[in-house]
Amino acid sequence: METPSNLTDLMDLSSTLAKIETETLERVRNAETIDAIAAVTAETLGKRSVLASHRRGLAEMAPEDRREAGRLLNATIARLGEVIGEKRTALDERLEAQRLDLESVDVTLPGRVPARGSHHVVRQVMDEIVDIFVSIGYSVVTGPEAETDYYSFTALNIPPTHPARMSTDTLYLDYGENPEDVNLRPHTSPMQIRHMEKHDPPVYVVVPGRVFRRDALDPTHSPVFHQVEGLAVDENITFADLKGTLAYFAREFLGAKTKVKFLPHYFPFTEPSAEMHAYANGEWLELLGCGMVNPAVYEHVGYDPETITGFAFGMGVDRMAMVRHGVTDLRHLFDPDVRTLDQYR
Ligand code: DAH
Repeated sequence: METPSNLTDLMDLSSTLAKIETETLERVRNAETIDAIAAVTAETLGKRSVLASHRRGLAEMAPEDRREAGRLLNATIARLGEVIGEKRTALDERLEAQRLDLESVDVTLPGRVPARGSHHVVRQVMDEIVDIFVSIGYSVVTGPEAETDYYSFTALNIPPTHPARMSTDTLYLDYGENPEDVNLRPHTSPMQIRHMEKHDPPVYVVVPGRVFRRDALDPTHSPVFHQVEGLAVDENITFADLKGTLAYFAREFLGAKTKVKFLPHYFPFTEPSAEMHAYANGEWLELLGCGMVNPAVYEHVGYDPETITGFAFGMGVDRMAMVRHGVTDLRHLFDPDVRTLDQYR
Protein backbone atom coordinates (compact mmCIF):
# COMPACT_ATOMS: atom_id res chain seq x y z
CA MET A 1 0.00 0.00 0.00
CA GLU A 2 1.42 3.28 -1.09
CA THR A 3 1.55 6.00 1.50
CA PRO A 4 0.86 9.35 -0.13
CA SER A 5 3.40 12.05 0.48
CA ASN A 6 2.49 14.68 3.03
CA LEU A 7 2.38 17.29 0.37
CA THR A 8 -0.11 15.25 -1.69
CA ASP A 9 -2.27 14.72 1.38
CA LEU A 10 -2.48 18.44 2.03
CA MET A 11 -3.14 19.35 -1.59
CA ASP A 12 -5.87 16.71 -1.80
CA LEU A 13 -7.50 18.03 1.33
CA SER A 14 -7.36 21.61 0.14
CA SER A 15 -9.02 20.80 -3.19
CA THR A 16 -11.62 18.60 -1.51
CA LEU A 17 -12.43 21.43 0.86
CA ALA A 18 -12.63 23.92 -2.01
CA LYS A 19 -15.07 21.62 -3.80
CA ILE A 20 -17.18 21.15 -0.69
CA GLU A 21 -17.18 24.89 -0.14
CA THR A 22 -18.28 25.65 -3.71
CA GLU A 23 -21.05 23.08 -3.58
CA THR A 24 -22.23 24.18 -0.18
CA LEU A 25 -22.29 27.85 -1.15
CA GLU A 26 -24.42 26.90 -4.15
CA ARG A 27 -26.83 24.92 -1.94
CA VAL A 28 -27.05 27.75 0.58
CA ARG A 29 -27.83 30.18 -2.20
CA ASN A 30 -30.64 27.92 -3.41
CA ALA A 31 -32.09 27.17 0.01
CA GLU A 32 -35.46 28.92 0.20
CA THR A 33 -36.83 27.53 3.46
CA ILE A 34 -35.69 27.06 7.02
CA ASP A 35 -35.95 23.28 6.49
CA ALA A 36 -33.72 23.45 3.43
CA ILE A 37 -31.05 25.47 5.25
CA ALA A 38 -31.28 23.08 8.24
CA ALA A 39 -30.61 20.15 5.88
CA VAL A 40 -27.60 21.92 4.38
CA THR A 41 -26.31 22.65 7.88
CA ALA A 42 -26.65 19.03 9.00
CA GLU A 43 -25.07 17.64 5.86
CA THR A 44 -22.19 20.12 5.83
CA LEU A 45 -21.37 20.72 9.49
CA GLY A 46 -23.20 17.93 11.31
CA LYS A 47 -21.64 14.90 12.99
CA ARG A 48 -22.17 12.75 9.95
CA SER A 49 -20.97 15.35 7.48
CA VAL A 50 -17.97 15.02 5.17
CA LEU A 51 -16.22 17.78 7.05
CA ALA A 52 -16.72 15.91 10.33
CA SER A 53 -15.21 12.78 8.84
CA HIS A 54 -12.27 14.84 7.57
CA ARG A 55 -11.81 16.20 11.04
CA ARG A 56 -11.75 12.67 12.39
CA GLY A 57 -9.24 11.79 9.65
CA LEU A 58 -6.81 14.40 11.01
CA ALA A 59 -5.69 11.91 13.62
CA GLU A 60 -4.35 9.67 10.91
CA MET A 61 -2.34 12.36 9.21
CA ALA A 62 1.34 12.85 9.59
CA PRO A 63 1.84 14.96 12.70
CA GLU A 64 3.77 17.65 10.78
CA ASP A 65 0.78 18.17 8.40
CA ARG A 66 -1.96 17.93 10.99
CA ARG A 67 -1.63 21.54 12.07
CA GLU A 68 -1.97 22.96 8.56
CA ALA A 69 -4.76 20.51 7.69
CA GLY A 70 -6.62 21.45 10.86
CA ARG A 71 -6.25 25.12 10.04
CA LEU A 72 -7.61 24.59 6.49
CA LEU A 73 -10.51 22.53 7.82
CA ASN A 74 -11.42 25.00 10.54
CA ALA A 75 -11.24 27.93 8.15
CA THR A 76 -13.63 26.19 5.76
CA ILE A 77 -15.98 25.23 8.58
CA ALA A 78 -15.90 28.80 9.91
CA ARG A 79 -16.64 30.35 6.50
CA LEU A 80 -19.44 27.95 5.74
CA GLY A 81 -20.85 28.35 9.23
CA GLU A 82 -20.97 32.09 8.75
CA VAL A 83 -22.64 31.93 5.33
CA ILE A 84 -25.19 29.41 6.58
CA GLY A 85 -25.88 31.57 9.63
CA GLU A 86 -26.46 34.66 7.48
CA LYS A 87 -28.80 32.78 5.21
CA ARG A 88 -30.74 31.42 8.17
CA THR A 89 -31.11 34.92 9.59
CA ALA A 90 -32.33 36.19 6.22
CA LEU A 91 -34.88 33.38 5.96
CA ASP A 92 -36.01 33.95 9.55
CA GLU A 93 -36.55 37.63 8.82
CA ARG A 94 -38.46 36.91 5.65
CA LEU A 95 -40.69 34.43 7.48
CA GLU A 96 -41.36 36.93 10.24
CA ALA A 97 -42.21 39.59 7.69
CA GLN A 98 -44.67 37.25 5.99
CA ARG A 99 -46.25 36.40 9.34
CA LEU A 100 -46.65 40.08 10.22
CA ASP A 101 -48.10 40.71 6.81
CA LEU A 102 -50.72 38.03 7.33
CA GLU A 103 -51.57 39.20 10.81
CA SER A 104 -51.62 42.87 10.05
CA VAL A 105 -54.88 44.81 10.13
CA ASP A 106 -55.63 47.20 7.31
CA VAL A 107 -56.94 50.15 9.26
CA THR A 108 -57.96 51.88 6.05
CA LEU A 109 -60.54 49.18 5.23
CA PRO A 110 -64.08 50.40 5.80
CA GLY A 111 -65.69 48.77 8.82
CA ARG A 112 -68.60 46.40 8.66
CA VAL A 113 -71.49 48.79 9.11
CA PRO A 114 -74.56 47.21 10.67
CA ALA A 115 -77.80 47.84 8.80
CA ARG A 116 -79.19 51.04 10.21
CA GLY A 117 -82.81 51.79 10.77
CA SER A 118 -84.27 55.12 9.86
CA HIS A 119 -87.44 57.05 10.30
CA HIS A 120 -90.21 56.18 7.91
CA VAL A 121 -90.29 58.52 4.94
CA VAL A 122 -93.61 59.99 6.10
CA ARG A 123 -92.07 60.77 9.47
CA GLN A 124 -89.05 62.31 7.78
CA VAL A 125 -91.20 64.60 5.65
CA MET A 126 -93.38 65.45 8.63
CA ASP A 127 -90.29 66.45 10.61
CA GLU A 128 -89.07 68.48 7.67
CA ILE A 129 -92.35 70.39 7.42
CA VAL A 130 -92.47 70.99 11.14
CA ASP A 131 -88.83 72.15 11.19
CA ILE A 132 -89.56 74.85 8.61
CA PHE A 133 -92.23 76.35 10.84
CA VAL A 134 -90.17 75.91 13.99
CA SER A 135 -87.42 77.90 12.26
CA ILE A 136 -89.77 80.87 12.00
CA GLY A 137 -90.94 80.72 15.58
CA TYR A 138 -93.78 78.21 15.67
CA SER A 139 -94.13 75.71 18.53
CA VAL A 140 -95.09 72.09 18.07
CA VAL A 141 -98.13 70.70 19.86
CA THR A 142 -99.89 67.36 19.52
CA GLY A 143 -103.28 66.10 20.53
CA PRO A 144 -105.44 63.00 20.90
CA GLU A 145 -106.30 60.77 17.97
CA ALA A 146 -109.64 59.85 19.52
CA GLU A 147 -111.69 63.04 19.53
CA THR A 148 -115.17 64.15 20.42
CA ASP A 149 -117.75 65.48 18.06
CA TYR A 150 -117.31 68.89 19.63
CA TYR A 151 -113.61 69.26 18.81
CA SER A 152 -113.66 67.51 15.46
CA PHE A 153 -116.67 69.41 14.13
CA THR A 154 -118.84 71.67 16.29
CA ALA A 155 -116.20 74.04 17.58
CA LEU A 156 -114.76 74.25 14.07
CA ASN A 157 -118.05 75.63 12.84
CA ILE A 158 -118.83 72.47 10.87
CA PRO A 159 -122.64 72.26 10.79
CA PRO A 160 -124.51 69.15 11.97
CA THR A 161 -125.54 68.40 8.41
CA HIS A 162 -122.05 68.50 6.96
CA PRO A 163 -121.18 65.28 5.06
CA ALA A 164 -117.88 64.95 6.91
CA ARG A 165 -119.85 64.14 10.03
CA MET A 166 -121.50 61.15 8.45
CA SER A 167 -120.37 57.67 9.36
CA THR A 168 -119.62 57.10 5.71
CA ASP A 169 -116.78 59.62 6.04
CA THR A 170 -115.72 59.59 9.66
CA LEU A 171 -114.79 56.57 11.75
CA TYR A 172 -116.65 56.48 15.07
CA LEU A 173 -115.61 54.65 18.19
CA ASP A 174 -118.16 52.70 20.16
CA TYR A 175 -117.51 54.73 23.31
CA GLY A 176 -119.67 56.80 25.63
CA GLU A 177 -123.41 57.35 25.59
CA ASN A 178 -123.90 58.94 22.22
CA PRO A 179 -122.90 56.47 19.47
CA GLU A 180 -121.53 59.21 17.24
CA ASP A 181 -119.74 61.29 19.80
CA VAL A 182 -116.25 59.82 19.87
CA ASN A 183 -114.46 59.66 16.56
CA LEU A 184 -111.02 58.93 15.20
CA ARG A 185 -110.14 62.51 14.29
CA PRO A 186 -110.59 63.07 10.56
CA HIS A 187 -108.15 66.00 10.62
CA THR A 188 -105.70 67.75 12.94
CA SER A 189 -107.85 70.89 13.15
CA PRO A 190 -109.40 69.94 16.55
CA MET A 191 -106.06 70.90 18.10
CA GLN A 192 -106.70 74.49 17.06
CA ILE A 193 -109.56 74.50 19.54
CA ARG A 194 -107.78 72.54 22.27
CA HIS A 195 -104.77 74.82 22.06
CA MET A 196 -106.72 78.11 22.04
CA GLU A 197 -108.85 76.93 24.98
CA LYS A 198 -105.68 76.70 27.07
CA HIS A 199 -103.55 79.53 25.68
CA ASP A 200 -104.18 83.21 25.11
CA PRO A 201 -102.90 84.87 21.96
CA PRO A 202 -100.37 85.23 20.50
CA VAL A 203 -100.50 81.67 19.19
CA TYR A 204 -98.07 80.24 16.66
CA VAL A 205 -98.32 76.47 16.58
CA VAL A 206 -98.02 73.54 14.22
CA VAL A 207 -99.71 70.22 14.92
CA PRO A 208 -98.31 67.12 13.25
CA GLY A 209 -100.36 63.96 13.61
CA ARG A 210 -102.20 60.94 12.37
CA VAL A 211 -105.73 61.24 11.07
CA PHE A 212 -108.39 58.76 9.99
CA ARG A 213 -111.11 58.58 7.39
CA ARG A 214 -113.45 55.97 6.14
CA ASP A 215 -111.67 55.46 2.82
CA ALA A 216 -110.58 52.25 1.15
CA LEU A 217 -106.87 51.92 0.46
CA ASP A 218 -106.13 52.85 -3.14
CA PRO A 219 -103.33 54.65 -4.99
CA THR A 220 -104.39 58.02 -3.57
CA HIS A 221 -106.41 57.19 -0.44
CA SER A 222 -105.76 55.52 2.87
CA PRO A 223 -107.96 55.19 5.97
CA VAL A 224 -104.94 56.36 7.99
CA PHE A 225 -102.82 59.27 6.91
CA HIS A 226 -100.98 62.28 8.30
CA GLN A 227 -101.47 66.00 8.48
CA VAL A 228 -99.67 69.05 9.72
CA GLU A 229 -102.00 71.74 10.97
CA GLY A 230 -100.91 75.31 11.55
CA LEU A 231 -102.40 78.18 13.48
CA ALA A 232 -101.22 81.78 13.88
CA VAL A 233 -103.34 84.14 15.96
CA ASP A 234 -102.13 87.55 17.02
CA GLU A 235 -102.97 91.23 16.71
CA ASN A 236 -103.20 92.55 13.16
CA ILE A 237 -102.61 89.30 11.30
CA THR A 238 -103.74 89.69 7.70
CA PHE A 239 -104.12 87.56 4.61
CA ALA A 240 -100.76 88.97 3.51
CA ASP A 241 -99.15 87.22 6.51
CA LEU A 242 -100.85 83.99 5.49
CA LYS A 243 -99.56 84.28 1.94
CA GLY A 244 -96.07 85.30 2.97
CA THR A 245 -95.75 82.53 5.54
CA LEU A 246 -97.11 79.76 3.33
CA ALA A 247 -95.15 80.89 0.26
CA TYR A 248 -92.04 80.88 2.44
CA PHE A 249 -92.89 77.36 3.51
CA ALA A 250 -93.39 76.19 -0.08
CA ARG A 251 -90.03 77.62 -1.10
CA GLU A 252 -88.24 76.07 1.84
CA PHE A 253 -89.85 72.73 1.14
CA LEU A 254 -89.78 72.60 -2.65
CA GLY A 255 -87.02 74.99 -3.63
CA ALA A 256 -86.31 78.73 -3.65
CA LYS A 257 -87.83 79.34 -7.07
CA THR A 258 -91.14 77.59 -6.37
CA LYS A 259 -94.18 79.52 -7.60
CA VAL A 260 -97.35 79.42 -5.55
CA LYS A 261 -100.91 80.50 -6.17
CA PHE A 262 -103.94 80.81 -3.91
CA LEU A 263 -107.30 79.63 -5.21
CA PRO A 264 -110.53 80.52 -3.42
CA HIS A 265 -111.98 77.60 -1.52
CA TYR A 266 -114.37 76.88 1.31
CA PHE A 267 -113.73 75.59 4.82
CA PRO A 268 -116.22 76.22 7.62
CA PHE A 269 -113.48 77.18 10.12
CA THR A 270 -111.82 79.80 7.92
CA GLU A 271 -113.20 82.81 6.10
CA PRO A 272 -111.98 83.58 3.52
CA SER A 273 -110.50 80.21 2.66
CA ALA A 274 -108.08 79.15 -0.03
CA GLU A 275 -106.08 76.32 -1.43
CA MET A 276 -102.42 76.94 -2.01
CA HIS A 277 -101.02 75.30 -5.12
CA ALA A 278 -97.33 75.09 -5.90
CA TYR A 279 -95.60 74.59 -9.21
CA ALA A 280 -93.23 71.66 -8.78
CA ASN A 281 -91.84 69.03 -11.15
CA GLY A 282 -93.60 70.65 -14.08
CA GLU A 283 -97.09 70.73 -12.66
CA TRP A 284 -99.32 72.62 -10.26
CA LEU A 285 -99.89 70.68 -7.07
CA GLU A 286 -102.47 71.34 -4.42
CA LEU A 287 -100.30 71.68 -1.33
CA LEU A 288 -102.62 72.72 1.46
CA GLY A 289 -105.87 74.28 2.61
CA CYS A 290 -105.79 77.57 4.48
CA GLY A 291 -107.68 80.69 5.41
CA MET A 292 -108.29 83.42 7.95
CA VAL A 293 -109.68 81.91 11.14
CA ASN A 294 -113.45 82.28 11.13
CA PRO A 295 -114.59 84.56 14.01
CA ALA A 296 -117.21 81.89 14.81
CA VAL A 297 -114.31 79.68 15.93
CA TYR A 298 -112.99 82.34 18.33
CA GLU A 299 -116.32 82.39 20.10
CA HIS A 300 -115.87 78.74 21.07
CA VAL A 301 -112.54 79.44 22.76
CA GLY A 302 -113.29 82.80 24.32
CA TYR A 303 -111.05 84.92 22.07
CA ASP A 304 -112.19 88.43 21.23
CA PRO A 305 -112.63 88.65 17.43
CA GLU A 306 -112.49 92.45 17.73
CA THR A 307 -108.87 92.54 18.87
CA ILE A 308 -107.23 89.53 17.27
CA THR A 309 -107.07 87.88 13.88
CA GLY A 310 -105.30 84.83 12.60
CA PHE A 311 -104.82 82.29 9.88
CA ALA A 312 -104.85 78.51 9.82
CA PHE A 313 -103.68 75.87 7.39
CA GLY A 314 -103.65 72.12 7.04
CA MET A 315 -101.67 69.87 4.74
CA GLY A 316 -101.46 66.16 3.93
CA VAL A 317 -98.03 64.81 4.80
CA ASP A 318 -98.29 61.54 2.87
CA ARG A 319 -99.06 63.43 -0.31
CA MET A 320 -96.08 65.71 0.31
CA ALA A 321 -93.89 62.65 0.86
CA MET A 322 -95.08 61.28 -2.47
CA VAL A 323 -94.21 64.55 -4.18
CA ARG A 324 -90.84 64.71 -2.43
CA HIS A 325 -89.83 61.15 -3.35
CA GLY A 326 -91.69 60.63 -6.61
CA VAL A 327 -93.86 57.87 -5.14
CA THR A 328 -96.68 57.11 -7.57
CA ASP A 329 -98.83 54.90 -5.36
CA LEU A 330 -99.71 55.85 -1.80
CA ARG A 331 -99.84 52.18 -0.84
CA HIS A 332 -96.05 51.90 -1.19
CA LEU A 333 -95.78 54.08 1.90
CA PHE A 334 -97.73 51.49 3.87
CA ASP A 335 -95.78 48.53 2.51
CA PRO A 336 -93.99 46.96 5.48
CA ASP A 337 -91.24 45.54 3.25
CA VAL A 338 -88.12 47.51 4.15
CA ARG A 339 -86.81 47.05 0.62
CA THR A 340 -89.70 49.16 -0.61
CA LEU A 341 -89.21 51.79 2.07
CA ASP A 342 -85.42 51.80 1.63
CA GLN A 343 -85.86 53.29 -1.83
CA TYR A 344 -87.34 56.44 -0.35
CA ARG A 345 -84.80 57.10 2.37
N1 DAH B 1 -108.83 70.33 8.07
C1 DAH B 1 -108.76 70.40 6.63
C2 DAH B 1 -108.83 69.01 6.04
O1 DAH B 1 -108.68 68.09 6.75
C3 DAH B 1 -107.51 71.06 6.17
C4 DAH B 1 -107.48 72.53 6.53
C5 DAH B 1 -107.95 73.47 5.67
C6 DAH B 1 -106.98 72.91 7.74
C7 DAH B 1 -107.92 74.81 5.95
C8 DAH B 1 -106.98 74.27 8.08
C9 DAH B 1 -107.44 75.21 7.15
O2 DAH B 1 -106.49 74.69 9.23
O3 DAH B 1 -107.41 76.49 7.48
O4 DAH B 1 -109.00 68.86 4.87
